[in-house]
Amino acid sequence: MKLQSLFTLATAAMMLAACNRQPAEPTFTVAHQDDGLTIVNVTGESRYLLLPIEEDKGEVQVRVNTGDAADTWMDVRLAVDTVDYYVPLALPAGPKACVEVRNLPADALAWSRLQLSDTFDTTNREYYRPAYHFTPAYGWMNDPNGMTWKDGEYHLFFQYNPYGSKWGNMHWGHAVSPDMVHWTQLPPAIVRDTLGHIFSGSSIVKGDTIFSYYTSASDKYGQIQAGAWSTDNGRTYTKFADNPRITPADGRRDFRDPKLFAYDGHYYAIISADNEMQFFRSDNLHDWTYVSAFGDGYGVQPRQFECPDFFELPVEGTNLKKYVMIVNVNPGCWFGGSAGEYFVGDFDGTTFKCDSRKEMVKWLDWGKDHYAAVTFSNEPKGRIVSIPWMSNWQYANDLPTRQYRSQMGMPRQLFAYKQGTEIYVGQKPVDEILAQVKPAEFTTEGNTIKLGEGKAQLVIDMDVKNGSTFSLTNGEGEEVFFACKAGRLIMDRSRSGIIPNDAFAPETYDPKPSMGTTSGTWIPVEQLCGKKNTYHVQLWMDICSIEMYVDGGRATMTNLVFPKTPYNALTGSGLSNVKVCSVEL
Ligand code: FRU
Repeated sequence: MKLQSLFTLATAAMMLAACNRQPAEPTFTVAHQDDGLTIVNVTGESRYLLLPIEEDKGEVQVRVNTGDAADTWMDVRLAVDTVDYYVPLALPAGPKACVEVRNLPADALAWSRLQLSDTFDTTNREYYRPAYHFTPAYGWMNDPNGMTWKDGEYHLFFQYNPYGSKWGNMHWGHAVSPDMVHWTQLPPAIVRDTLGHIFSGSSIVKGDTIFSYYTSASDKYGQIQAGAWSTDNGRTYTKFADNPRITPADGRRDFRDPKLFAYDGHYYAIISADNEMQFFRSDNLHDWTYVSAFGDGYGVQPRQFECPDFFELPVEGTNLKKYVMIVNVNPGCWFGGSAGEYFVGDFDGTTFKCDSRKEMVKWLDWGKDHYAAVTFSNEPKGRIVSIPWMSNWQYANDLPTRQYRSQMGMPRQLFAYKQGTEIYVGQKPVDEILAQVKPAEFTTEGNTIKLGEGKAQLVIDMDVKNGSTFSLTNGEGEEVFFACKAGRLIMDRSRSGIIPNDAFAPETYDPKPSMGTTSGTWIPVEQLCGKKNTYHVQLWMDICSIEMYVDGGRATMTNLVFPKTPYNALTGSGLSNVKVCSVEL
């Protein structure tokens, strides 16, 4: 044998040996059992098993089996015929992992489409993803939860399904921000467990610890209140070993969404219980005593109360301070579906007394896409700041996105003001978002303000004459129609673009053909802002939403819209002092 071929052989042998030392590519086997269970055995280390999802298929159950009693089944719409998108299932570290799947037939497409991967691509794929409203990178989101501030960070936890973009598997998702505008999403903070879904709840900061309470919800145990704490700023939580901490005394089914607050040296939790709100008191955030209830016969009745909040606000222009109870109701919104109402009154540590007559209904926002709004605790400037979920249970699961579904509304600073004999709550964009607003170019031609092409993150600021009508339009023939007439300010989105389902812009509740529309949502501007010749209106637009603030936020209206291209013109009579700005993060 020649020297050169000997050398070549030796090199080849060395290379082969080096290759053999590389960890083997992870692989998996799939074994279907007769009892409907399928076992996926993974050999080799991989961060994720990527699960193929088909949204309109039913849920099957998936569990990572580590042998721990805490291993929890998740409901996942695994692909049967086609793959809409993937979601990552995190695998435990180590050379072997076992994933179990229940109820997925052996001929389902998912079996040939499962993938192992160390990465998951969250690059945005959605045309309608907003620019300055919070959305999760992927997965489903509903209510904001547990919002608080600590050590320079605002925490937004939220109802989150990491295993698909429809409601299910409630976890507390988590995002942090220095200013409530620029958010960084972190891994879920509190994960669905064997006590149930992690439903909505709240947080309170005590010393170095964030205490959070949420509702554990399951068919087996019902709706019960559980607690958890974090000493690393919400990155990891320890659940109380003796959860649940509060259970419904009367065995009622709907008992959820605890909101914590402090009053006179005690902690309180306010919990929605059918169509009333119940107060509980504690001195240690662990043991709770029932105190009282409020709500029977008040506001929109009889409706399921959800997601309470409770805080004190000074009343502008007076020496008064008043307690405000936020009560989200679903259904019950005058325009269909879900909405938030509130009651103003006094609290003495035992009972809440509402100032208004029982039938008085005060909506926090007069659109269809403002729900489950709750406020931050421990806000460093002492402000009461809320964030609403910007959707409605009537169509939330049908919105035209897939990578993620749902967005939050802008953070809003709440204030109380007196109009006539009533005290109302208004809301205005927080200063931090105002700091992102820059003048934008626009031109005026007759009655039309040309907003420019392709600009979807605009703020239009103007005076609107009582009696006028105006529209936002685009080159696709799509239109959002507004009218300020007969004491109302109306927004009609029935021709605004994609209409996700019949409940989105129905022929409606209170048709007034003289308004130029039979559909829409309306603000009673005269009642809330007084009878005036002009109202000051701001429209905050962000790709697929319009938030309207009237007279400095005394009245607001929040609605989603899905135009094919951004609205590029505002046309109407009776508009003056128009300014156009853009929101630039
Ligand atoms: C409100 C709500 C809450 C519940 C959560 C479940 O939107 O129904 O009452 O905790 O959503 O995701």
